[in-house]
Amino acid sequence: MTLLNPASFEAEQYGVLRHVMETLRKSANLKVVAITSAGVGDGKTTTAINLAGALAQSVDARVLLVDIDVRRPAVARQLKLAGSKRSLVDALMDSSLKVEDTVEHLAHFNLSVLRAGGPTLAPYELLKSSRLEALLDQARQRYDYIVLDTPPFVPVPDCRLIAKCVDGFLIVVAAHRTPRSALAETLDLLEPAKVVGLVFNGDSVRRSSYSGYYHAHVGSSRGARWRRAWRKP
Ligand SMILES: Nc1ncnc2c1ncn2[C@@H]1O[C@H](COP(=O)(O)OP(=O)(O)OP(=O)(O)O)[C@@H](O)[C@H]1O
Ligand SMILES: [Mg+2]
Repeated sequence: MTLLNPASFEAEQYGVLRHVMETLRKSANLKVVAITSAGVGDGKTTTAINLAGALAQSVDARVLLVDIDVRRPAVARQLKLAGSKRSLVDALMDSSLKVEDTVEHLAHFNLSVLRAGGPTLAPYELLKSSRLEALLDQARQRYDYIVLDTPPFVPVPDCRLIAKCVDGFLIVVAAHRTPRSALAETLDLLEPAKVVGLVFNGDSVRRSSYSGYYHAHVGSSRGARWRRAWRKP
């Protein structure tokens, strides 16, 4: 299991993110948040797992982590989930399945997980169908927070497809890795009001740690302001 030790420095940083999420849930009714990044390997899955884990530390919080990356599923592997439980792909293909039929509950972490399943031959069609929205609507009834681990934003269209079902996007920016142009493209393609924040993952001082966070309130225009800022030479 790769959830962080709650006493570690990194866990404390995810605690900051958790606090922001808790505040936004109250003030802006933010419930479904997608973790994305411009490119491959920036730390989306790591951030999604640890943010969901941090939110789930609140004993009365009902938290669901959903792996939407049906092209290259990673949550089940990173969490070392055993067995072959039903998955998001199963639920997308079979409309008789309900969220509760597919989710597995990790009682020890107070965390529910919906693994991606797949890889599938038709990710675009699957995510494009209205079925995903219906599943997330069911999940909204049962959970306080729904954290989505997504594929990289620029190379594949999946995040653009799911944007309508998502209350906000957290964009992971990997220090020394994410090209500025790719980040600008990501911010350009997102509705500014849905950009909840940027999460900086790793830096030259503490290479192995999650290192910082800037946020905007859902519904504000900060997304647009950042976009301009990132375009400066
Ligand atoms: N803060 C971090 N500290 C240490 N290792 C990290 C950190 N963030 C990411 N990694 C490592 O970098 C690799 C890529 O991270 P991760 O799988 O979270 O990225 P991703 O954005 O989900 O990738 P993909 O685009 O393939 O889905 C993993 O091996 C992960 O363990
Ligand atoms: Mg990933």
